[in-house]
Amino acid sequence: MLSLTLPRIPALTTSSFCRCNVSSKFLQRHCSRMLSEKTRVSDALASKETGSHVRIQGWVRSVRPQKDNLFLHVNDGSSLQPLQVVASSHLNTRDLTFGCAVDITGTLEKSPNKKQNVELKAQRIEVVGECNPVDFPFKIKERHSLEYTRQFPHLRCRTNAFSSLLRIRSEATTAIQSFFRENGFVQIHTPVITSNDCEGAGELFQVEPAGDKKDSDDPNPHFFSVPAYLTVSGQLHLEVMAGAFSAVYTFGPTFRAENSQSRRHLAEFYMVEAEIAFTESLDDLMKVMENLFKATTEHVLSHCAEDVELFHKYMAPGHRDQVDLMLNRKFDVISYTEAIDILKSSSQNFTFSTEWGDDLHTEHEKFLVKHCGNVPVFVINYPYELKPFYARDNQDQPKHTAAAVDLLVPGVGELCGGSLREERIEVLSQRLAQAGLKDTYEWYLQLREFGSVPHGGFGMGFERYLLCILGLHNIKDVIPFARFSHSCLL
Ligand code: 4AD
Ligand code: MG
Repeated sequence: MLSLTLPRIPALTTSSFCRCNVSSKFLQRHCSRMLSEKTRVSDALASKETGSHVRIQGWVRSVRPQKDNLFLHVNDGSSLQPLQVVASSHLNTRDLTFGCAVDITGTLEKSPNKKQNVELKAQRIEVVGECNPVDFPFKIKERHSLEYTRQFPHLRCRTNAFSSLLRIRSEATTAIQSFFRENGFVQIHTPVITSNDCEGAGELFQVEPAGDKKDSDDPNPHFFSVPAYLTVSGQLHLEVMAGAFSAVYTFGPTFRAENSQSRRHLAEFYMVEAEIAFTESLDDLMKVMENLFKATTEHVLSHCAEDVELFHKYMAPGHRDQVDLMLNRKFDVISYTEAIDILKSSSQNFTFSTEWGDDLHTEHEKFLVKHCGNVPVFVINYPYELKPFYARDNQDQPKHTAAAVDLLVPGVGELCGGSLREERIEVLSQRLAQAGLKDTYEWYLQLREFGSVPHGGFGMGFERYLLCILGLHNIKDVIPFARFSHSCLL
């Protein structure tokens, strides 16, 4: 008989984390006898109990040898605050340096230091990975600028600022998902590779196999038989789904081949997009945008208080007041025509023209936000000619506009872009014909043939959202690995 030997699965407890702030009984049962279990630094710091035996693993943030004792700060990415470790000097070794990786066991004791509840009295310190502090680009006790850390995308997660940013990013992602789930939206995984150019702006990255992989007998030059691109927006796919669900959303990477070195554009960024069926009013969209912004921000402020404070204290002093203002005030609404009137009557010299029909540039957007008292402002009803084919025609000549909306926010300018979609088949058909797109978007026209309903949606740039709440100025500082023209490190 054939006998199979299954590979041994390591016991869960050896790799799982012990959340030690739960209760003392839990601690005693699960931590004290099982030294192989690990405790996260954040859980150790939150622990009310002392005397428990724990094991922590992380990276050394500071080393202070004294005559009898050795003091270390160890961080494992679970919190901004490190855990203080106290050990007898005889546990000190030459390879125990700033930046090295350690595995430590010991006892949690009450700390005499008012800044922390507990400290770890180490009984064993193992250096798992050495780090030469002379060669390591970050230096102990130095505050490195964001510009400096940007040069080391493979190492900058070891700095306080960037690890805080990554925790905030992760928490904001959770908050966005919860917001949509709690409000009855269905998440759709829209494709990354697509054959459409949703925005029609031509900022597309084409997708083909690398190298000369083509079958020489195949006359079709394209891998997918049609030109295919990295998505610039999941909107059209969401519109498909809004034909069967009343509310859908997607949250994923988005790509634009914008040859821009600006501080608010990336070639790869994350966009949150929502599409709502049975809606005939921009008010409905604006309500979702405002609630999404406020709910996400409140969640981040309460779940990442320390991390957010780091930015508001050291990098954007006073920005917390700005955030509170945005949370406490209702967002403003002005029409594009009013916006142009405001810009034209201002005494400011703008680089770009402000005639009716011109697109709004960052300088105009920032001015409008200031003009409205530094609260986010929705600008609605843009010139029809400025907006893509899908935007709903307001049929309001002579100043011909489309039911489109942008949300402008302090310090950043445009955060969200959205519109009602043209659901009337004759109007859409005519516009597509004028643009020579009728064949390409036959399927899109069909959506208006079979059970079409008024609908609309919007997209919010996730990195711009982070800039806005943290008070930062460069989009490259809020994404783990920034991609922009002439730069794709790692
Ligand atoms: O205004 P946009 O181009 O709108 C759309 O793509 C719509 N199809 C969305 C929809 O209705 N479902 O992009 C939406 C937002 C912008 O307001 C901006 O915040 C962000 O995406 N964004 C960028 N963020 C970083 N880098 C870039 N190159 C960006 N381009 C747009
Ligand atoms: Mg836009």
